[in-house]
Amino acid sequence: MRMYDIIEKKRNGEELNEREINFFVKGYTEGSIPDYQASAFCMAVYFKGMTEKETVILTEAMAKSGDTVDLSMFGNLSADKHSTGGVGDKTSLIVAPIVAALGGKLTKMSGRGLGHTGGTVDKLESIPGYKTTLSQEEFISQIEKVGMAIIGQSGNLTPADKKLYALRDVTATVDSIPLIVSSIMSKKIAAGSHNIVLDVKCGSGAFMKTLEDAEILAREMVKIGKGCGRNIAALITDMDRPLGSAIGNSLEVIEAVKVLKGELDNDLKEVCVSLASEMISLVYSISYDDALKMVNDTLISGKAFLKMKEWISAQGGDTKYIDNTDLFRKAEFSRDIVAETDGYIASMDTEKIGLTSVILGAGRASKEDSIDFSAGILIYKKTGDEIRKGEKIATLLTNNNADFNDAVKMYNSSITVSSKKPEPKPLIYKIIR
Ligand code: URA
Repeated sequence: MRMYDIIEKKRNGEELNEREINFFVKGYTEGSIPDYQASAFCMAVYFKGMTEKETVILTEAMAKSGDTVDLSMFGNLSADKHSTGGVGDKTSLIVAPIVAALGGKLTKMSGRGLGHTGGTVDKLESIPGYKTTLSQEEFISQIEKVGMAIIGQSGNLTPADKKLYALRDVTATVDSIPLIVSSIMSKKIAAGSHNIVLDVKCGSGAFMKTLEDAEILAREMVKIGKGCGRNIAALITDMDRPLGSAIGNSLEVIEAVKVLKGELDNDLKEVCVSLASEMISLVYSISYDDALKMVNDTLISGKAFLKMKEWISAQGGDTKYIDNTDLFRKAEFSRDIVAETDGYIASMDTEKIGLTSVILGAGRASKEDSIDFSAGILIYKKTGDEIRKGEKIATLLTNNNADFNDAVKMYNSSITVSSKKPEPKPLIYKIIR
């Protein structure tokens, strides 16, 4: 078999078979197929697309290109969630203990933040002592005992995707639906869970800016997940405003703790309850409404909060910080953002708000940057809220005083104010099953 013939076949819009796709994935991962042929292949896929069958084969081949996690000992109880990335998105810290408190086996390999979006691993590392690396044995044993574990991604998970994603990034082939779907889903399939809930973010702070694009991606991922034999659903949720009111690593842990303690009833809680309910409905094959009742009961009873403590403790984290979040180190410098006129917040450019948190030190501008765990933003007013001239609408926090001018400018430019109250927009647009 020759890579030339596979590229030509795809270029002509024909469907590739399993042997051809496997030949490409194996050869490219091993290095026998060079970057220039893989680039031509990606461009052919970009223009000609892939059938559902081809995308399933590509996803499975990439999933098998490196280590895979065997969770078969948990039967139908294993569950995983994935968010396409957003600002203030700390849902994993809340959804995972809820699902584990209800008997699910929540296994999650999370990433670090990059660009304007945060990453769960960075948030967890803001808890003193928390270990984001466990051996495979420790990982499985913790899931058996505690019902959940959240760790960083293993070094050799889906090497085909690592290579291909880096290539797509420099060959203008990132935004191809079959390539995005196979990239995301191969990592989920390799991570082994039987049940998968996707949170596809949509809006100014998301990878997918419009509902139409988010829905196309969500439907494709659900189709391919099912084609790979998994139970799967996707929620399309709003990212035209940050989720919750805290952005920044320890600030987000504190907000998650407050939701689990029942001290906060906000948009963040609403999205988490929906994600957890969808997951419980998949895990136990019950209706969404029955699952929703279980989720609400476990939050009200405090069992989800206790599960969070049990999990943090099992991974070496100091639970004194969870019992008393005032112990988290506070940022040395703060600057309030104040409303310049009366009116309503009409829109928030969420990507710019994420970038403001990066300027403050809460995120990375490049992979090598270190993170200031206590830096970030506390938001008091969001889209649709009424504001009065001189009122505090947010506070910026950092340990680097020099950064305020750029951060204030960036935050102010992210917000538009109108004299009329904007039409409310849904928080959860759709659930695709
Ligand atoms: N995230 C991924 O993991 N892969 C893509 O292709 C796009 C977003």
